[in-house]
Amino acid sequence: MSELELTLDDVRRGMIPAHIYNDREIFELEKERLFGRSWQFVAHESEVPQSGDYVVRRVLEDSFIISRDDQGEVRAMFNMCLHRGMQVCRAEMGNATHFRCPYHGWSYRNDGRLVGLPFHREAYGGEAGFSRKGQTLLPSPSLGTYNGMIFISLDPEAPPLDEFLGDFAFYLDYYTKQSPSGIELRGPQRWRIKANWKIGAENFAGDMYHTPQTHMSVVEIGLFREPKAERRKDGSTYWAGKGGGTTYKLPEGTFEERLRYVGYPDAMIDRMRATWSADQCAVVGDSGFMISAASLFPNLSFVHNWPRVEDSDDVLPFISIRSWQPISENETEVVSWFAVDKEAPEDFKAKSYKAYLMCFGSTGMFEQDDVENWVSLTSTAAGSMARRLRLNSRMGMLADGSAVVEPLSGDEFAGPGVAHVGYGEYNQRHLLDEWANHLERPVTKSAGVEFGATKVEVGS
Ligand code: FES
Ligand SMILES: [Fe+2]
Repeated sequence: MSELELTLDDVRRGMIPAHIYNDREIFELEKERLFGRSWQFVAHESEVPQSGDYVVRRVLEDSFIISRDDQGEVRAMFNMCLHRGMQVCRAEMGNATHFRCPYHGWSYRNDGRLVGLPFHREAYGGEAGFSRKGQTLLPSPSLGTYNGMIFISLDPEAPPLDEFLGDFAFYLDYYTKQSPSGIELRGPQRWRIKANWKIGAENFAGDMYHTPQTHMSVVEIGLFREPKAERRKDGSTYWAGKGGGTTYKLPEGTFEERLRYVGYPDAMIDRMRATWSADQCAVVGDSGFMISAASLFPNLSFVHNWPRVEDSDDVLPFISIRSWQPISENETEVVSWFAVDKEAPEDFKAKSYKAYLMCFGSTGMFEQDDVENWVSLTSTAAGSMARRLRLNSRMGMLADGSAVVEPLSGDEFAGPGVAHVGYGEYNQRHLLDEWANHLERPVTKSAGVEFGATKVEVGS
């Protein structure tokens, strides 16, 4: 067996070679075999509501302009000039009919078409010498949307987004569709942490086990109303399609009472009741679980929590969406958005934003607690002793691989996928299994990291 095969084999047994959290060779493989073909969330349609609105987002080193063109269509275009490769759009967001390259001044419409070349006639012989027709910034090889969330893939043969999401879409709706209007975003905040990107994704996917320890001080200062962080063991984790997450067990009550318990006003609860399917309502109303953190493979996470924002016992929920963008094997850019239902009352939006800022984002207390662990883990993973260590990621499994607790039945948990009550590293294992499946599959030409779609013909 090759070294890679041994590593993947260990990962699949739930014994993780510690060096995968800080290993240059592994990172090179991840770039090619994983990020070269996975779906990546880049923006939400509400960030580009008007024609001409754009944001610039990255997938690793590749910069993309996500714009709404004059026909109202959302496009994702590789932000590299066809001429000498300068980054065409340098601003992070704005509104423009055209983008002009800062280097020599080629200009492009907001749908990517090349429309202007300085000294076109003198330098290229005009249209006859070099026709602008058909010349466009390279489109993202694949693009898909779900609830207004814009995903792109560098793989032209990526499976359709819906197929990729599978049953995880059921859970995505709790975060991104609390009313027919869906969400609006604020941000993103961006900052870098000296930690490997996988750690955040794993933590949000299913690590309820760290809360009582890592976040003890948040409970002690009373930010968090849940009486004891150790109550997390009463919650469940679920895995469905290409993602999974954690939940809290709610006190007895109806759907409405339980949503009120986490701080939603009645008008929002009525819209959730009307927007969600019977099964989506039943997870809250009958099974009694409230979704909390989650991750979608490979590096997109969500969090829903309900801290106390004022000096009272009242709590208020917030939602954050974040992408763990790898910079290198030991550095990650966190891109963190605040999300809120578009139809929520304005005072709810304001307080919910405050709740987010207190808990997550660059000022968030949970965030700071978490990152301390991840940075430390990453730095130690670079050493030679880490190459000898297999980290135990088998929580929830007995020695023979059978389950410590049986999965919940359909009567106990109304959502799709497999759910377990209590602590277990089921979801971290699912994420790393997907990771292993990608890493073992070499990229062939037909899997297409090549851009065949747009040929740039430069005049002879
Ligand atoms: S590199 Fe863009 S115009 Fe020359
Ligand atoms: Fe945490």
